[in-house]
Amino acid sequence: MVVVELKEVKFGYNSSDEILKGISFRANPGEITAIVGPNGAGKSTLLKIIAKILKPKSGIVLFDGKNLSKEETTKIVSYLPQENSIPGILTVFEAVLLGRLPHLSWRVKKEDLKIVRNTITELRLEKYAERYTSQLSGGEKQMVLIAQALVREPKVLLLDEPVSNLDMRNQLEILELIKKFTKERKISTIVVLHDLNLAAKYADKIVIISNGKVRACGDAKSVLRPEVLAEVYEVEVNISSSDGNIHVLPLRPLSRSFCSEVC
Ligand SMILES: Nc1ncnc2c1ncn2[C@@H]1O[C@H](COP(=O)(O)OP(=O)(O)OP(=O)(O)O)[C@@H](O)[C@H]1O
Ligand SMILES: [Mg+2]
Repeated sequence: MVVVELKEVKFGYNSSDEILKGISFRANPGEITAIVGPNGAGKSTLLKIIAKILKPKSGIVLFDGKNLSKEETTKIVSYLPQENSIPGILTVFEAVLLGRLPHLSWRVKKEDLKIVRNTITELRLEKYAERYTSQLSGGEKQMVLIAQALVREPKVLLLDEPVSNLDMRNQLEILELIKKFTKERKISTIVVLHDLNLAAKYADKIVIISNGKVRACGDAKSVLRPEVLAEVYEVEVNISSSDGNIHVLPLRPLSRSFCSEVC
């Protein structure tokens, strides 16, 4: 179990701009923390900072209170980037097995094969197991990449828009599975999502990033409020609740002048 804590993280791709202007939040083991926010808000940048691919200008990311090196971070973190590709010369089975690389020794152990087989079954990829990944659809490739991230058995799982190009059923199935993994294995899962309804349904905590800051952080009910979404997305929304879930219905874009007056 590893608690992830961000403290006043600031970042810019060059010295003149600041995309992240002091981001602080905490992701707990056994919980899904969803990062949401408009295009270009800095969500992917933030995941790369947590994965130690990018270094913050200032501020710190702590894993159980420790400032880990890149190497130490790689051992406990599994990161699925937004843009991704798999070498087409691998079969689905080989590609998923590749996810076990940090655990593999000279020989592939029975245990590795069992984990790979079970994950392939859970993601309903059996029928593709022997197929080359170049022969898969975009959504099927995405499922293989998710399988790769899961077989690593991480303590911290970072997923950047993992379900954006999946159909409705696969979106639900994958998020159910991620939730199950997160709860059973006490993983700290941080997932970037655009679909606020999926964030409301599956996340224990939602962090809204806007203008480089955390605009709101908490459970769906406290965070997904019409005035907050009007300010962040410049969209009028209707919020309702049923079956214990919050539902967000976008109604219309707001004019910029409305936003500058009201928000
Ligand atoms: N390598 C880069 N060099 C310079 N600027 C970059 C680079 N990568 C991203 N940016 C800029 O940083 C900002 C944040 O980008 P980021 O990819 O983190 O946004 P995002 O919130 O993930 O957006 P989206 O929802 O569209 O994926 C954007 O303005 C983007 O143009
Ligand atoms: Mg992104």
